[in-house]
Amino acid sequence: MRHLYSIADLDRQEIIEILDRSEILKSTDRAIGIQPTGLVVGLFFFQSSTRTRAGFHAAAARLGAAALPLDWMRHGSGMSEAEAPVDAFRSVSAYCDLIVLRHEFEQEFLRMIGHATAPVINAGCGTRHHPTQALVDLFHIRSRLGRLDGLRWGIAGDLLRARAARSLVDCLGWFEVAELRLMSPPNRTLPAEELDLLPAERVRLLDRLDPSGLDVLYMAGYPEGLRPDCTSREERWRFRLTAEMVRQLPTASLILDPLPRIDEIEGAVDDLPQASYFEQSRNGQFVRMAVLERALSRESAGSTAVQPPNLIKE
Ligand code: CP
Repeated sequence: MRHLYSIADLDRQEIIEILDRSEILKSTDRAIGIQPTGLVVGLFFFQSSTRTRAGFHAAAARLGAAALPLDWMRHGSGMSEAEAPVDAFRSVSAYCDLIVLRHEFEQEFLRMIGHATAPVINAGCGTRHHPTQALVDLFHIRSRLGRLDGLRWGIAGDLLRARAARSLVDCLGWFEVAELRLMSPPNRTLPAEELDLLPAERVRLLDRLDPSGLDVLYMAGYPEGLRPDCTSREERWRFRLTAEMVRQLPTASLILDPLPRIDEIEGAVDDLPQASYFEQSRNGQFVRMAVLERALSRESAGSTAVQPPNLIKE
């Protein structure tokens, strides 16, 4: 079994293949040629999610695979509240050909992977990994800017807790980076070892938001949101993007946000040409189709019981 745990599990060639396939899936009439496959994709969400969960659900449906959503586990509906979630995971994962798993805690996530009876796709775990979000981000940027090399990147927010931003940085080493500007409170920046694959002279750490001249401004936000133990409103707002600040960005640049937005982007930014986050989110389902298709095809190879879900022909 090959899991997709970290974006580092994919090399540059594999990333490009997934982006290329996503492009084809996006441009294909999604209603044509889809037949039920009999394959089952378990959607195990032990932490809240809107886009990732719905995106994988839609992606499975569009590939003719059945989605088995299990987010109710956490909330007790239909499952004994006394049962350990890992036991429920062990039982129900046996019904699935592929598992999409999100967990708030990385150690619990790893424990569950250890019991998985089918390949696992990481839909976000702890504060560290969110590989499919990084693929969505790369796909969206390449679609809009036509390239991934030679870009000036800015990433802002509580980077230490922002698994989407950390996964994106993890794969930037595969591309030529003109500049990487990491903007966060000093105690919330990335550990130095996570920048090892990037040219040190092109990485800048700032304790304020400076969008000037960037091609991509990634607003990672404050994933812990408005929890009382989270950063103060004053500190968060030092990294809040306003419509006034967007003037410093080239018109052709992109503002991204993995969402959910808490308060890192002022509402007035939504109407500006650089604001790109809802389109970024829409692209999520095509990338997740490509990821599922790839994993299910690999699982089905050699099986006589099911046909590979290679349902949408180029
Ligand atoms: N970007 C992201 O992971 O969003 P959700 O938490 O809504 O899935």
